[in-house]
Amino acid sequence: MTSTAATPTNAFDLDLPTLGPEALELSRTQSTEHLRELSSQHWMIRNLMGFVILDYDDVTKILRDKRWHNAVAKIPEMMGITDPAILNRPPSILAAEGDVHTRLRRLVAKAFSPRSANQLRPFMRNVVNELIDPVAASGRADVAVDICEPYPIPIICELLGAPREDWQLFSRWAEDVVRIFNGTAIDEMDVIGQAQIELNEYVVGLIDARRNDPRDDLITALIAAEEQGDRLSTEELVTMVNAVIVGGTDTTRNQLGCAMSVFADHPDQWRLLAERPDLAANAVEECMRYFGAIRGTGRFASEDIVYRDVLFPAGTLVFPSLAAANGDPGVTANGTGNFDITREPVKGRGQMTFGSGIHYCLGASLARAELQEALPLLARRMPDLAVDGEITWKPATTAIFGPNHFPVTFTPS
Ligand code: HEM
Repeated sequence: MTSTAATPTNAFDLDLPTLGPEALELSRTQSTEHLRELSSQHWMIRNLMGFVILDYDDVTKILRDKRWHNAVAKIPEMMGITDPAILNRPPSILAAEGDVHTRLRRLVAKAFSPRSANQLRPFMRNVVNELIDPVAASGRADVAVDICEPYPIPIICELLGAPREDWQLFSRWAEDVVRIFNGTAIDEMDVIGQAQIELNEYVVGLIDARRNDPRDDLITALIAAEEQGDRLSTEELVTMVNAVIVGGTDTTRNQLGCAMSVFADHPDQWRLLAERPDLAANAVEECMRYFGAIRGTGRFASEDIVYRDVLFPAGTLVFPSLAAANGDPGVTANGTGNFDITREPVKGRGQMTFGSGIHYCLGASLARAELQEALPLLARRMPDLAVDGEITWKPATTAIFGPNHFPVTFTPS
């Protein structure tokens, strides 16, 4: 019997539009529009390192297909790092796959449940109020510096059980360590490496302290999981705590900045949120759909993969574009992309900024709670928010995108 299946075409032989270095020069709005325009014609295009996946269904399928492994595991190799001490470290949860990943995820899942996140909501409101208080009377602020940057740190410290006086240290380490994901990381290895050493030493100290004096916090919970025979080694504990600090800091602060910038462009929606805090949950999904701080992620083929009649040879890099997927008309019930916080998320076709599949954001409940608490409070206490000058943005090569400076005026309260 002869097979009727078409012979797959090698992805590298396809004639596809290519996103070149000029794409990095585009503004965030231009780049999103460009990607969304391309996605109406192509489910996949090329970039300098591999292929960018644009279509919502393909982004979802690839992120859920376990043959595609997280490209963060390739970062040391791509950076030319050969030191076995670094290469042989246990993988972080983001880089782990298969049984290793399942085990790590199982051990930490409870600490990241919606219930655990909800317990921190009163604390989150206090943090937001403390950040607004110093600027409230003047009616002026740099939203990025005064509000977004400091906001997630006390919450991560509270979650981990780290003391308040260490907030500033955490903030700097988290920002520096996360640079490893930037396109320019190779030039910043000294800063990244130093921050990583300091953070590791600090976390080892915290673990030792909790071993001697257990408390009701995440580190104690992770140690307990280890002691119930599930064996998270100290090194694995350090890696996990690192992942929480790195994954939970720069992401939330930048997503809050992106969301506030959208509201500054839509004053009617800002007023509405102040009047209707019950819309907070929808508002957060809508902000993350409309302007997600994480625009895409990376995967590599762990074996030869045939997908949509295309052969991706083992090792091929693909970049599922979360920003392009969020532009899919099916993500909004009426198919229009306008910003509307009363919009109910479409069941089974939610916004993609938390990713999908086994690496779906572990901190999604916490991040949602943080944003749901912050945004309505800010809307109420910073009415008539207006941009006062120029918003300066992180470079387009930044993995987690958001404002560096975001000067505003508002009616003093
Ligand atoms: C708005 C804020 C956030 C956004 C937009 C975000 C986004 C994401 C995305 C897109 C991924 C998947 C990456 C991939 O598939 O390659 C991810 C994974 C992850 N996130 Fe978040 N995140 C946020 C907040 C947080 C917070 C608050 C924490 C922790 C407290 C956290 C911890 C993690 C961890 C540990 C992973 C890896 C999960 C795994 O590999 O199983 N994130 N996040």
